[in-house]
Amino acid sequence: MHLIIVESPAQMARLAADRLAAQLAHRPDSVLGLPTGDTPLALYRELVRRQRRGELDLSRATTFNLDEYLGLGPDHPTSYAHYMRRHLFAPAGMDSRRTHLPDGTAADPHAEAERYEAAIRAAGGIDLQLLGIGVNGHIGFNEPGSPLDSRTRVVELCATTRSANRRHFPCGEAPPTHAITLGIATILEARRLLLLATGSAKATALRAALQGPISAGLPASVLQRHPACVAILDAAAATALDPATRQAARLSASTLSSS
Ligand code: PGA
Repeated sequence: MHLIIVESPAQMARLAADRLAAQLAHRPDSVLGLPTGDTPLALYRELVRRQRRGELDLSRATTFNLDEYLGLGPDHPTSYAHYMRRHLFAPAGMDSRRTHLPDGTAADPHAEAERYEAAIRAAGGIDLQLLGIGVNGHIGFNEPGSPLDSRTRVVELCATTRSANRRHFPCGEAPPTHAITLGIATILEARRLLLLATGSAKATALRAALQGPISAGLPASVLQRHPACVAILDAAAATALDPATRQAARLSASTLSSS
């Protein structure tokens, strides 16, 4: 895993956008895997800015999101479909026929999960998968204990995740109990992975994920197995990593930003 520690969310957004731009320059019709949450917001702003200035062309890309809450339709303000439309797809002028999320209101969610996995395969698989990490080490909604060979499926959200995400829901509205998520094996099949993490709340999970043993108890630890995974962290998220690793990762960020 290649680790980069940045000085600011803006630097993270620029470096991540550079990687996405390089992927699209290499293959304009790339298949991108996208996350939601607070972490990628600065990146999405940067992508919209570049797209509007003509510095990036997302028009031929196909996207698949990592997950969606069960029971929330695309017009629900806290659905991930709504988040993506608001923060990226609409402002970047992306064609809705190329942007995909699991349907959280499908009559048969299990069949919907299978359909979504098949749609990713039919699109040729994911070229570049962007990821966040939960405070409990989840990736997508693969909570601790998720089988490392899991595929896209219906999952129950754990209490930590529901409480971390409660802030997005209006007062009195509880986050859904279930979601559809890409599986861990599905995520690992992406040709490249880019993990983004900010803030001290993620520090312990990141140390276990990047420097601990690979285990289903900490799903993000499986990223160590991927041959082309880059992690970009801010200093607060990196505080629990060992000092030598932190030092090397800082150097790597300054080399990149001066090049
Ligand atoms: P966050 O979520 O970006 O809002 O911290 C990340 C995640 O839970 O995967």
